Order: sequence, then structure tokens, then C-alpha cells
Amino acid sequence: MNFKTFLGTLALTTALAIPAIADEDPAIAARQGQFKLFSHNFGVVGGMAQGRIDYDAAMAQTAADNLFHLTRVNQTRLWPEGTDAQSAERTRALPAIWDDLDDFVAKFAALQGAVENLQSVAGSGLDELRAGVGQVGQACQACHEVYRAESS
Ligand code: HEC
Repeated sequence: MNFKTFLGTLALTTALAIPAIADEDPAIAARQGQFKLFSHNFGVVGGMAQGRIDYDAAMAQTAADNLFHLTRVNQTRLWPEGTDAQSAERTRALPAIWDDLDDFVAKFAALQGAVENLQSVAGSGLDELRAGVGQVGQACQACHEVYRAESS
């Protein structure tokens, strides 16, 4: 192989290496997108609870309704084996999730319950909203503490 052929081979190898990155499991990006939507809506009610945004019953209700529907998305295809932070790139999902899936599912169910409560109180006044937001925030945190890495 002369030098030119070698360079050609090198370029080809590099070109072939790029799709390998794109090959990463789309479930990872999908579940991260889901969490971004959680935050985008939780930020509205959280901001009202903290006094950073003026309380607005209709706006609070819409955010809580969105969270309700978002947390009803079936999770089955978002957490395939082999997509933990030790086996895959660009994910903060800890392997512990797959060691104790029942507990992970229970923590997700706790979030669903807290969000259902938030949905029923969000439009009823700031004090009611605050209590509901606190409960949801705790459910987010309880799962992150055990199952989400600090950084990827
Ligand atoms: C049952 C567990 C669980 C619950 C409940 C949970 N999360 Fe997460 N969250 C995770 C895991 C695991 C990741 C890491 C996902 C990954 O990187 O693949 C994550 C990632 C995130 C991210 C980063 C997304 C990104 O761009 O990479 C945000 C933001 C987030 N969660 C917000 C929330 C909010 C807000 C709530 C509550 C309303 C919540 N989460 C509830 C487990 C949970």
C-alpha cells in the first residue's frame, strides 16, 4: 500500500466511524427529550411556587395538565438494556436502574401520583399550588438521587 492509498483508507475509515456515533440507541435521546419537557412545564409551576413568576391559575393548570399527560407516556421502549451510563455514551442513567427495575418503576409511579395531585390543585390558588409542586419536586429528586449520575 503506498502512502496515497493509506491516506485514502484512513479517510474512509474515519468516514465510516462517524455513523457509529449516530448509531447510538435513539431511546436515550427520546427519554432525555421527555425529561426536558418535564422541566419545561415544571419550571412554570415551580417558578410560581418560588415567586419568580406571578401566579396565574390558567397557566398553572396548563402546565400541570401537560405534566399529567407527559407522565402517562408509556416508558417500556425508553429504557432498553445496554443504555446505562457504563455501556453507552451521552446518558446519565445509572446501571442501578436495571438492577432494580421494580423500584425504578415505583419511583416513576410516585411521580405520576404527585402530578395527578398537582393537576387537581394547580388552579385553586398559590398555597395549594405550592404544596402540590413540593410533592412533585420530591418525586423528581427521589429518583435522581439514586438513578441519575451527576454528569455523563
Ligand atoms: C423514575 C425516575 C425519574 C423521575 C421520577 C424523574 N427523573 Fe429526571 N431523569 C431520570 C434519569 C434516569 C435521567 C437520565 C436520563 C439519561 O441521561 O438517559 C433523568 C434526566 C433528567 C433531565 C436531564 C435530561 C437531559 O437533557 O439529558 C432532566 C432535566 C430531568 N430528568 C428532569 C426531571 C423532572 C423535572 C422530573 C420531575 C417532574 C423528573 N426528572 C423525574 C430519572 C427520573
